[in-house]
Amino acid sequence: MIQLAASVLAADFSQLGAQLREAYAAGACGAHVDVMDGQFVPNLSMGPEVLRAVRRVSDEAKAKVTVHLMIVQPDRFLEAFVEAGAQRLVVHLEHTHLLMRTLARIRELGAEASVAINPATPLVMLEEVLPHVSSVLVMSVDPGFGGQRFQPSSVQKIARLRRLLDEARLSQVDIAVDGGINAETIGAVARAGAKVAIAGSAIFNARASIADNVRALVAAATDPAHAGE
Ligand code: DX5
Ligand code: ZN
Repeated sequence: MIQLAASVLAADFSQLGAQLREAYAAGACGAHVDVMDGQFVPNLSMGPEVLRAVRRVSDEAKAKVTVHLMIVQPDRFLEAFVEAGAQRLVVHLEHTHLLMRTLARIRELGAEASVAINPATPLVMLEEVLPHVSSVLVMSVDPGFGGQRFQPSSVQKIARLRRLLDEARLSQVDIAVDGGINAETIGAVARAGAKVAIAGSAIFNARASIADNVRALVAAATDPAHAGE
């Protein structure tokens, strides 16, 4: 069963706590916090103080908090984000200098280490890194903004990564997918082998209530009507 994590970037920040609680009560089991610095990606978002609030609400629901760092030189802030509540830290393959050292430092700080890969980056670039992470975040949009269109080639990429991991006897490494996840796309990524789907707009900005949106996503992830597509 795929797990659903809520990307808080799309939430109404004046009601962040209430909106997250609603998502958790309906079946979301994690929060995803996008940190952007205006350099790594052309957008700015949130920092440790918002994360602290997300962690407080998430602890009530025993939901895991992941921080997705889209910032240059992430090493400068690893400690600050773990201290503020990150249980899993995701750094990007493309822009992390001395990546092995960064991943080791994340583990040393007591958080799970995860690596993200952009749509244009080939999987082969991950090969040496896989034994050193607990999960891989496959980006299904170019990072920087919520509400973008899912890139369909991500489905094959997830399936290939799953095979690669199993062949390397790294079955414990989870695949997460981020960007453009909605009721139309979640089933395909689940069947391809993603363990965690991250959704922002489809939870917080879709037409129905947050609770209904979460339930619709969970149902769509397992809908046998679309199996085999
Ligand atoms: C994109 C972010 C995503 C984003 C997902 O740079 O990493 O986490 O918030 O938003 P949706 O689900 O709207 O594509
Ligand atoms: Zn993200």
